[in-house]
Amino acid sequence: MGISYKELGLVNTREMFKKAMEGKYAIPAYNFNNLEQLQAIIQACVETRSPVILQVSKGARQYANATMLRYMAMGAVEYAKELGYEIPIALHLDHGDSFELCKACVDNGFSSVMIDGSHLPFEENIEITRKVVEYAHQFDVTVEGELGVLAGIEEDVKAEKSHYTNPDEVEEFVERTGVDSLAISIGTSHGAYKFKVKPGEQVPPLRFDILEEIERRLPGFPIVLHGASSVIPEYVELINKYGGNLEGAVGVPEDQLRKAATSAVCKINIDSDGRLAFTAKVREFLWNNPKEFDPRKYLKPAREELVKMYKHKNINVLGSANKA
Ligand code: 13P
Repeated sequence: MGISYKELGLVNTREMFKKAMEGKYAIPAYNFNNLEQLQAIIQACVETRSPVILQVSKGARQYANATMLRYMAMGAVEYAKELGYEIPIALHLDHGDSFELCKACVDNGFSSVMIDGSHLPFEENIEITRKVVEYAHQFDVTVEGELGVLAGIEEDVKAEKSHYTNPDEVEEFVERTGVDSLAISIGTSHGAYKFKVKPGEQVPPLRFDILEEIERRLPGFPIVLHGASSVIPEYVELINKYGGNLEGAVGVPEDQLRKAATSAVCKINIDSDGRLAFTAKVREFLWNNPKEFDPRKYLKPAREELVKMYKHKNINVLGSANKA
C-alpha cells in the first residue's frame, strides 16, 4: 500500500510554480542525501521564508534508503514548523530514468517526479513521459519532463549546439505528455566543471534567446533549469587549500541565474554548490584539527556554511525569500 505525500505534510509544485511565475522568481530545488544537508536546507528556507523543493536523485535514494527518505521528508515538515514558520515543501525525484522508479516514488510519498527521457528519440520521450504523467496525476503528483540534453563535463561548450532544446518541439511535447513543467538545455551542465575556460576568460553566456523563444511558444508554462550551480570560487579555493584538487572548476555566474529566475524559469536546481560548501568546511576543519574524530565537530561547521549559502541563494539569486 502506498502513502500519499499529503499525509506527510508535503505539497506538489503546481501552486509554487504559479506564484513563482507571477512573482518573477524561481523556487530553489536543493539536492540532499543526508541529515545535515536536509537540516540546513530547511533552516535556510524557514529563516528566509522561502518555499522549497527537496530534491532526491536515483543515487541519493539508493544511498539514503527510500523508507528513510520518506520519514526524513516528514521530519523536515515538522522541523520547519518547530523553527517557527510553515513553508511549502515539495519532495521531488530528480532525473527519474524509468516508469517503475517514478511510480515507486509516487507510491512512497514524493509530491513531484521528473522523468528524464531527454536522451531518447522524441516519440519515445513523449511515450514514457506521458505514461508517468498518467500515473502521477491520479495522485495529484506533479511531473517534470525534459527536452534537450545538458552538456556533460567533457564536452566542448562551443560544439554542443545540437544538445540545446529545440523550441520547435516544446509545444507538441507539453501538449501530448501533459507535463507540469519542462526542463530545458540552454548552456548549463551538471557538476563542477561546466565550462572550459582559460584563466581570466569569461564563461559563455546562457542561451537566453532559446529561453525567450520557448517562453513565446509556451506562455505562462513553468520552465526548469538544471545544472545551475555557480561553483562558488571561495569553496573551490578552500578545498584546494586544504588538500583537495579541483583545478578548473567553473559554474554559471549568479547574475545569469538571477536573470533566468525573473523569466519563465520557475525552478532552479542546485546540487554541486552544496557539495562544495560542505566539503570545503569539512576539509578545513579536519586540516586544522587533526586530533578530532567526532563527526559532529566537523559536520556542524559544514552544516552552518550550507545554511549561509542557501540563504544567499534564496535572497540574492533566486528571489524566493519572503515568498512563502
Ligand atoms: P549542479 O551540478 O549545477 O548543482 O546541478 C544540479 C542539478 O541540476 C540536479 O538535477
